[in-house]
Amino acid sequence: MRFEIVTIFPEFFTSIFENGILRRALAEGLVSVGVHDLRAFTHDRHRTVDDRPFGGGEGMVLKPEPLAEALASLGIQPKAARQKGPQAADSISSEGGGGFNPRIKPQSIGALAPEEKLVIEPVLYQGTTLQLAEKLEIEPVLCQGTTLVVPQMQQQERGALATEGSYSEKSPSRPHVILLSAQGRPFTQAMARELAATERVVLICGRYEGVDERVNELYCDMELSIGDYVLSGGELAAAVVVDATMRLVPGVLGNEASGDFESFGVADAEIAAADDGVPRSQHGAGGLLDYPHYTRPAEFGGLRVPETLLNGDHAQIRRWRREQQLRKTLANRPDLLEGAALSKEDRKLLESIRQEIG
Ligand code: ADE
Repeated sequence: MRFEIVTIFPEFFTSIFENGILRRALAEGLVSVGVHDLRAFTHDRHRTVDDRPFGGGEGMVLKPEPLAEALASLGIQPKAARQKGPQAADSISSEGGGGFNPRIKPQSIGALAPEEKLVIEPVLYQGTTLQLAEKLEIEPVLCQGTTLVVPQMQQQERGALATEGSYSEKSPSRPHVILLSAQGRPFTQAMARELAATERVVLICGRYEGVDERVNELYCDMELSIGDYVLSGGELAAAVVVDATMRLVPGVLGNEASGDFESFGVADAEIAAADDGVPRSQHGAGGLLDYPHYTRPAEFGGLRVPETLLNGDHAQIRRWRREQQLRKTLANRPDLLEGAALSKEDRKLLESIRQEIG
């Protein structure tokens, strides 16, 4: 997959891509990144990228013209032009065009009740469920893996999609254009999974007071926030999105763990267990926080590693880790428990933890 980052601080990204997993992924050609200096698309002596806000107020606003030129240089047309047809919609300057070809599982054809799950055939569907939502012009309630929960959809629309076409090597999904801003939808692991399945993602880094809203309206598929706080610009947010997404691209993580977890939209400790029976780190899969990790030495600072982890009993280790996930989630993110995939045993355990901590 490829990221295109549009920024006024291109040098910001240098060290980020020169270290760790990202460096290896780039070196091995599993992912690629283009960093584009917004000032290169200005035409005045001062290379002006911002201006005062209409209506008055604090700060400066990024002007639309340089951003539009930067996007044009990447072959990104306004959304209206992209939606005119498969050819126009997907035309990317150097990487060819193609159609948007989702295919829905046959059992999904028919009336779709509000909040019903729509399962998209992962083999035939190239693109992301977010793109499918966009194509249908619906606001997804939840996008996870290849499942899209929609508020409502007409039978007609679904039938059209189901017969629209199938996966083709010649039909790369069109680029997904994202504006990083504190006003955006919250970025989640599920979104990172969606993006990791997209061939080309364009990230526009906002600065100053904001970006002229017409850029968002005309070009962006999504406005994305990495959290409920205001950064001085979108660069840090873009780095977060690139990091979280790239590690989910098949082959990037050495042990292929991400691939395993990606296939389990709602993995729990049982299904996440590998062939050797030892459950792997969850990193939010299944809707719970990860369990605590330990390495040598077995004793440090007067604290011993929990005995269960030392005795080699995989079933016990699995149970212990699940309990720790529940404890951590209850302590740090109780809000996650509502949407988590919990077994009967989990619920009993949770109840006893609640009683224990009062
Ligand atoms: N730009 C400023 N604040 C941001 C945030 N929280 N997420 C993404 N982009 C931003």
